[in-house]
Formats: sequence, C-alpha cells, structure tokens
Amino acid sequence: MTDDSTALRQSALKALSGARSRTTALTECVDDRDLTAQHSPLMSPLVWDLAHISNQEEQWLLRAVAGREAIRPEIDSIYDAFEHPRAIRPTLPLLAPAEARSYATEVRGRVLDVLESTPLQGRPLVEAGFAFGMIAQHEQQHDETMLITHQLRAGPAALTAPAPPPADATGLPDEVLVPAGPFTMGTSTEPWALDNERPAHSRLVPAFRMDTSPVTNGAFLHFIEDGGYRDARWWTDQGWDLVRGHELEAPLFWRREGGQWLRRRFGVVEPVPSDEPVLHVSWYEADAYARWAGRRLPTEAEWEKAARHDPATGISRRYPWGDGEPTAERVNLGQRHLGPASVGSYPAGASPLGVRQLIGDVWEWTSSDFLPYPGFVAFPYREYSEVFFGPDHKVLRGGAFSVDEVACRGTFRNWDLPVRRQIFAGFRTARDA
Ligand code: AVJ
Ligand code: FE
Repeated sequence: MTDDSTALRQSALKALSGARSRTTALTECVDDRDLTAQHSPLMSPLVWDLAHISNQEEQWLLRAVAGREAIRPEIDSIYDAFEHPRAIRPTLPLLAPAEARSYATEVRGRVLDVLESTPLQGRPLVEAGFAFGMIAQHEQQHDETMLITHQLRAGPAALTAPAPPPADATGLPDEVLVPAGPFTMGTSTEPWALDNERPAHSRLVPAFRMDTSPVTNGAFLHFIEDGGYRDARWWTDQGWDLVRGHELEAPLFWRREGGQWLRRRFGVVEPVPSDEPVLHVSWYEADAYARWAGRRLPTEAEWEKAARHDPATGISRRYPWGDGEPTAERVNLGQRHLGPASVGSYPAGASPLGVRQLIGDVWEWTSSDFLPYPGFVAFPYREYSEVFFGPDHKVLRGGAFSVDEVACRGTFRNWDLPVRRQIFAGFRTARDA
C-alpha cells in the first residue's frame, strides 16, 4: 500500500464518519414516534432517510465496488427515491427505527473492511476513492434534507447550536465590478466532484456587477412593505400564479403579529433579524425582488466567476479565498450553527474582488436552468444529475449553514424546482456593468 492510498483511505474514513455523526445527531434527538411521523407531505419520515442512506451505501460500496450479495434485497424498492414520491413513503413497509439503525451499523461495518482492502485505483468508480466520497456526500445531502424536516416539524426545538460569529459590514461596498473576460468553469481535477460539475471548460462572461453580500431580511422587508407581493409588475406569469394561488405575502416561516414580523426556526419564534440573509424564498420571490430593486439574479456562470476566478493569475480557485480548507474562520458550513451569519461576516472567506459569504450561510438562487456542461458524461448513474437537466429546475450555488464541506465547493451545483421554499435558500443580486 502506497502512502498516497493511505491518505486517501484516511480522508474517505473521515468523510464517512463525519457524515455518520451528523446522521446520528439528527435522528437521536427525537423519539421513535417523531422518526416515523410525516412532518410535512414535502418530506419523507426521518426513518426513511436513515435507511435510504445505508441502502445507497450498500448498493454502491458493497455491491458495485466489492461485488457483495445484497444483505436485504427486498428493501431496495422501498428506498428507491424514484419509485415512491415522498408524500406516500409513510405508507410503505419501512424498517422500524431499531431495524434501520442495525441495518446501518451492519452496512457500515462491512464498508470499513472494503475500504481497507480495495485498491483505490484502476477502475473509474474507485479512482482516488471516488465512490466513498460520493457516498459520504450522499449521506450529508440527506442530512441536509433531514434538517429541512426538522425545520418543518412542529413543537419545541430538538436541535441546538451556538450562534454564528458577529458581523462587521462597515466599509463593505454594496457591489463590485467583475470585469469582462473568460474564466474556467467546472472541474476536471477535483477528485470527488460529481458528474454535473465536469468537465472544466472556458466561459466568456461579459462585465457585470454583483452584490458583495446576500440580500438581507431588512432589504426584503422593504420589498414587502412596498407592496411587492401585490404588484404583478415584478413577477413572471408563473410566479404571479404562485403568489395568488397560495396567497403568499412573506418568506416561508414568517408571520406578522402586532405590527412586527416574527419567524420560526427549529422550534424557536423570534423577531426577524434585519441583517441576516433572507431564507426560505422561492426562485420566483428572489426573481421578483431583484426586478423590484432594478436588478436581476446572477447567472450560474457569473456566480462561479465571482466565486472562483482570480484576476491576478487567471486561475479558478477551489473556494473564494483560495485552495485552503473551509475552516470556521472562513465559512458557515456543516450545521456548526443553525442559521446564517449576518452580512459582513467572514471577511477571511472573501473572494479576490471582495465578495463575501459566497460559500456557506444560504444557498443562492441563480437565474440559470440546470443544464449539462459541454462534454458532460453521466457518472456513475443517470439518476444523480442527468434526469433533472432541463428548464424545470433552477441552479442554486454556494451551499448553506446546513451543508457539510464534503458536499460543498466552488464548483458544486445544486438544483431545485423554482416553487421550493422550505430549502435553506436565499439569493444575491447582480446587474449588467
Ligand atoms: C442534489 C440535493 C438535489 O437531495 O434531491 C440525494 C441530492 N440525490 N439523493 C436531492 C441527492 C440522491 C439531491 N440534490
Ligand atoms: Fe438519496
């Protein structure tokens, strides 16, 4: 075994163990009734996510990588996300919490043996530990999904975390100019990048101006108070249908009481803090706000150029601050805090042009549809990305407080339907230069 493969095995182990600690924390803070309940028709019961995580791990790391037999072949269809929509999952013969936990322990035990003994080269699936990284990312993505379920769950808080660090936005300009020119979008070298982030390619981006911070609750409140939700001028036709059909008047989880806006987050009701990035708005609300403000959402390419392009070298960085690790001084990731930090936070995480909080805090809606890059090849399965390409899904960038660093980087692409409001999404705005 070379030193190289020892280091790879160690990072795979660290990623898998980190994901498991998060999964455990999210599922041990509630009782069995809570784990099996459906807290919202938009979400699976937590116990479905729990067993789905291990079923995917078994399919990829034990069966595909190591050629093992299925442990419980009869459960595959229950945990196939394409076979049963979330709303009906509580009616399936799901593994009970204790069974799901012992299945998870059994799978993980065998996976650790496979990780010890499998050569991490020679086959695309295991090259540089890819399959292990993919499965750690998959678990962390479901940990974010489970955090959304916690947010939708009624009742007192089950989760707690320290508040994010204080902010200082003094001297921070509202926007920066990103000069015209090509940059390298996507990656061909990041070992655990998923298929939709590949390959690296050159994109010509005209000059534009971009907000240095995500749009705040306070700014969004001006839109509300200016009658933004009652004025068709700001909305696309589909957005206007959504507003009228659901009588929208503010972000999800906000309510007005005695002349004050309150919001509920993880079971705690509090006044809406004006300096925090706005959260829980659909793509349509982000788009309408931008039009009201005389601006627009950035395209996905603009977002990535602002986040990665280093004008001094012409090279695209891994993260806005460079290629160094996403430490607690640079970003709010990994459910370290249970909400975004106020704008002006994380000066150490700024991009070369001084754009802040691109990674972490809140997912950022872009104006772009989720489409393949030129030269895209589905890997290792079409259902991760390819079946979602097209005009139905909008791209989100940057990750949020809810996302782990293993599933977040400057090239990472997330997507969702433009009506979605329960996800941890906000936005920033841009304009032509
Ligand atoms: C990339 C976050 C949109 O949660 O639907 C999880 C990730 N894919 N299991 C999702 C995913 C398969 C996916 N997103
Ligand atoms: Fe999944």
